[in-house]
Amino acid sequence: ATARLRIDRTEIVAPVSARLFGSFVEHMGRSVYTGIYEPEHPTANFDGFRQDVLDLVRELGPSIIRYPGGNFVSGFRWEDSVGPRGERPVRLDLAWHSIETNQVGLHEFADWADQAGVEIMQAVNLGTRGIEDAAALLEYSNHPAGTALSDARRADGRAEPFGITLWCLGNEMDGPWQIGHKTAEEYGRLAAETARVMKWVDPTIELVAAGSSNAEMPTFGSWERTVLEHTAELVEHISLHAYYEELDGDVDSFLASAVGLDRYIGAVAAIIDDVLESKNLDKTIGISVDEWNVWYQTRFNTVDKHPLLTGDWVEHPRIIEDEYSVTDAVVVGSLLNSLLRNADRVSMANLAQLVNVIAPIRSEPGGPAWRQTTFHPFALTAAAARGNVLRAEVDCERVDTVRYGAVDLLDVAVTADDADVVLFLVNRSLTEPLTLSVDLTGAPADSVLAAQSIHAPADGDRFTSNTEVHPDAVVPVALTGVTLSGDGRHLQAELPPLSWSIVRLR
Ligand code: AHR
Repeated sequence: ATARLRIDRTEIVAPVSARLFGSFVEHMGRSVYTGIYEPEHPTANFDGFRQDVLDLVRELGPSIIRYPGGNFVSGFRWEDSVGPRGERPVRLDLAWHSIETNQVGLHEFADWADQAGVEIMQAVNLGTRGIEDAAALLEYSNHPAGTALSDARRADGRAEPFGITLWCLGNEMDGPWQIGHKTAEEYGRLAAETARVMKWVDPTIELVAAGSSNAEMPTFGSWERTVLEHTAELVEHISLHAYYEELDGDVDSFLASAVGLDRYIGAVAAIIDDVLESKNLDKTIGISVDEWNVWYQTRFNTVDKHPLLTGDWVEHPRIIEDEYSVTDAVVVGSLLNSLLRNADRVSMANLAQLVNVIAPIRSEPGGPAWRQTTFHPFALTAAAARGNVLRAEVDCERVDTVRYGAVDLLDVAVTADDADVVLFLVNRSLTEPLTLSVDLTGAPADSVLAAQSIHAPADGDRFTSNTEVHPDAVVPVALTGVTLSGDGRHLQAELPPLSWSIVRLR
């Protein structure tokens, strides 16, 4: 198959924001305990954080990390998680049917975030709690000193405020699985009043209203509209959550997930514009894609969920430790392309999650940590996407899909700064290489700096994954045969079947 692409440095979508490459740590399963934190582990540092995991997090390169949930936050009493560790209460976490020891709390997570070099995006509990607790947590976190709450933080070991800028107003409040699930009207009112008071505590913060849990929710659309009618004046972002999986062997639709995300973002953007216009508001509201990934939810529901919700109460049970394949890595790469393509509307995004729970990084208690297949497109994209996202004109063959109709075989995003042009390329064909011809008249280059690809290894297939025993079964390999010609105005490449590739030009 063949594909043609035209790139022009002047056709700018939006600047690349580092916030597009966020991730998520929830008190769920083994994300925190035996994930980032395991004092007994041979690599643990003085604070009990696993250095092997920290090293992989730094290599992955996330910018912002959403914390502490997820569904967990809707039952979270933040004050349980501060103060002397020996005095912190052990609680039932009703979101994940787990025992929460609170041995990692706000201070420990802030220490970890400093060590990992990431910014915290803090969620407040609008499930069982509301205005007073959200305002109290914010005051505890961000007020300098001289009040009971800020002085409590100082007494707990942090003289300087945490200085958290990004705050989520609850989590997935549209879902009946959520502790304290609400109608759009109930949530919209609560979110608005909470937002108002939080901004009185600290006017410098940015707030994220909770949008839909997925595009298939029966309330999708009307939820966003109602919530924004209440909150548009008060928030800077509205969230969008999106998880994809291969259903019933329909791999073509799965590989077109990025088309689904493009459309989902477009639908939310249209509602934002409508509400802003109807209210005559001269502002922008960004879309915070603050949970996205491949997640085999059907396996979770049928295999894990029943025992999870009815079994014994245990600390950090193994929950949704999905093992990702080459195919999943290609889909994750294309979802990153979608986020970049929509950088004019998407203000931030968080790969859900970071360690063990549907995560790019896996770790075993007392054992090793390793990179899943999906680690690679994320790390390479986060490191290379700089400057502006460029609009790329694609002309290529299409594949018919059940879920999204006919979609391009090539999925692409392009970024450019003063020096480099970077192409992020997905070949959706399962069987055919894609011969790519790029017109660089509007973005001529001197050389190909690097070209790498992720695809099935010669001794594997599209289901190959990285495991504790074979942690490097799937790694980026050199993409050969990338050639520049015509005074750097033409690029030719052959993309392997079912592959994600990155080509850096200078
Ligand atoms: O990321 C796992 C869960 O997915 C989160 O807790 C929840 O917000 C979503 O449904």
